[in-house]
Amino acid sequence: METTTVRAGIPVSIASTRGPESIRQFAASLGAGVHAVPLEEALESEIIFVAIPFLAVEQFAKSLPDWTGKTVVDTMNAHYAPGSAEVLRGRLSTRYVAEQLSGADVVEAFNHLPANTLAAELDPKLGRRVILIATDSPRAGDRIADLAGQLGLAAVQLGRVDEGGRLIQAPNALVLRNLTEQPLQ
Ligand SMILES: NC(=O)c1ccc[n+]([C@@H]2O[C@H](COP(=O)([O-])OP(=O)(O)OC[C@H]3O[C@@H](n4cnc5c(N)ncnc54)[C@H](OP(=O)(O)O)[C@@H]3O)[C@@H](O)[C@H]2O)c1
Repeated sequence: METTTVRAGIPVSIASTRGPESIRQFAASLGAGVHAVPLEEALESEIIFVAIPFLAVEQFAKSLPDWTGKTVVDTMNAHYAPGSAEVLRGRLSTRYVAEQLSGADVVEAFNHLPANTLAAELDPKLGRRVILIATDSPRAGDRIADLAGQLGLAAVQLGRVDEGGRLIQAPNALVLRNLTEQPLQ
């Protein structure tokens, strides 16, 4: 679940419930700095990207006894998970994730574009790809914006989850908008 690219030489661990062997080949295909590890080891990371089916969040939350101090990036889109409306009961999906991972600083990001689009190198002449970020923790937002910058992305912080976060929750206005930032003339 923790996943990013080796683009900036940042070590990455990925994990799933079925253990490292089940994803070792996949991890190797992503580059030399990507390691398949047991879930408990991945959860020791400073920043945890959660990219699992939305309805698995409740189960995933039990993977750690205490989420305090963790920065968690919620890349998920509840909209595409049948039955999610009954779980959300009107809550924004990132708010639900923050409730489940109580104590973590949860950042909604990397969810508004397909993974393949995010991973693709962009011709520098076209500018930098924009990554949209929303969180109720400004410190965590800055941290993820900094990480996005290291990955060659242009981070745009949209404020709290119930502000800009609403716009990047599928199927709302900024979802699937493949934006780029170019220097002002
Ligand atoms: N694919 C995209 O382009 C894209 C774009 C934006 C957002 N998203 C969002 O990202 C999430 C994942 O999408 P996906 O397409 O990658 O789905 P996926 O192919 O179903 O992958 C989900 C992964 O989650 C793991 N998993 C499930 N439950 C888990 C748990 N409790 N703990 C740890 N790992 C668990 C699964 O492995 P095991 O079964 O082995 O645990 C599997 O490797 C979804 O919420 C989706 O909306 C996807």
